[in-house]
Amino acid sequence: MDTLAPTSKPAIPAAFHGETVTWVQHWTDRLFSFRCTRDPRLRFTSGQFAMIGLMVAGKPLVRAYSMVSPAWDEALEFLSIKVPDGPLTSRLQHIGVGDTVLIGRKPTGTLLTENLLPGKTLWLLATGTGLAPFMSLIREPEVYERYEKVVLCHTVREVKELAYRDYITQELPQHEFLGEMLRGKLLYYPSVTREPFPTQGRVTTLIESGRIFTDLGLPPLSTEHDRVMLCGSEAMNADVKALLEARGFIEGSNSEPGSYVVEKAFVTK
Ligand code: A2P
Repeated sequence: MDTLAPTSKPAIPAAFHGETVTWVQHWTDRLFSFRCTRDPRLRFTSGQFAMIGLMVAGKPLVRAYSMVSPAWDEALEFLSIKVPDGPLTSRLQHIGVGDTVLIGRKPTGTLLTENLLPGKTLWLLATGTGLAPFMSLIREPEVYERYEKVVLCHTVREVKELAYRDYITQELPQHEFLGEMLRGKLLYYPSVTREPFPTQGRVTTLIESGRIFTDLGLPPLSTEHDRVMLCGSEAMNADVKALLEARGFIEGSNSEPGSYVVEKAFVTK
């Protein structure tokens, strides 16, 4: 019987949509992106994450992944690390066009503009794959209605890990619908820690030294004008939190807006 053939696909559990991979890009031996189809019933807000993964031995193996794609996009895009012995990413890194991935039906998360009080400048601070939710947010028109400037800071170890750098600097300003909205408003500030680079060092160091403000021509962080979203490793989040709270910033949540919000860059294995 066909349904019992060893090649038959396992049924998709009710908590997920089964989607088809349409594009894969490997940035480095530690980092890749992929796109897949999106069920029209999947609703989310730019900046949120969902549980995504694969069927393994007849069961869902999933992790939290922020959407790279904005809420208005008809497809879904994700950014992932590759860890050779990571239960999910050791498998996920081998996906190809036509494969099926699981996408959780209930996206959630705190990196939402509505969780921040009104302000002038929105700072998006990411390390590594923490860039993902900010790729979604920088393509969200509402962000440009709420803020005069949007600063995207991405810190990585090596230059080649600056995923989406060409897209942000070359393609996005020419984008048919978004280009005009974000030109002059979106400031991209990449930094690299383990190779020579014009802006070298951790974002925390660049904030403490004041260099980032000089480079961008913006005043130092103040609770009056600035709002911050951060998404990085646990250590990065803890350091930036301490730095912000020392300057009077208060963490916002889905129940009460504040002057900054934070989320872990989830997948580490
Ligand atoms: P560094 O090279 O100085 O450790 P990882 O690949 O380990 O997730 O790190 C991604 C980037 O985040 C690296 O450039 C790393 O810098 C930086 N980073 C790591 N810890 C912190 C921290 N506590 N504060 C700011 N940046 C950090």
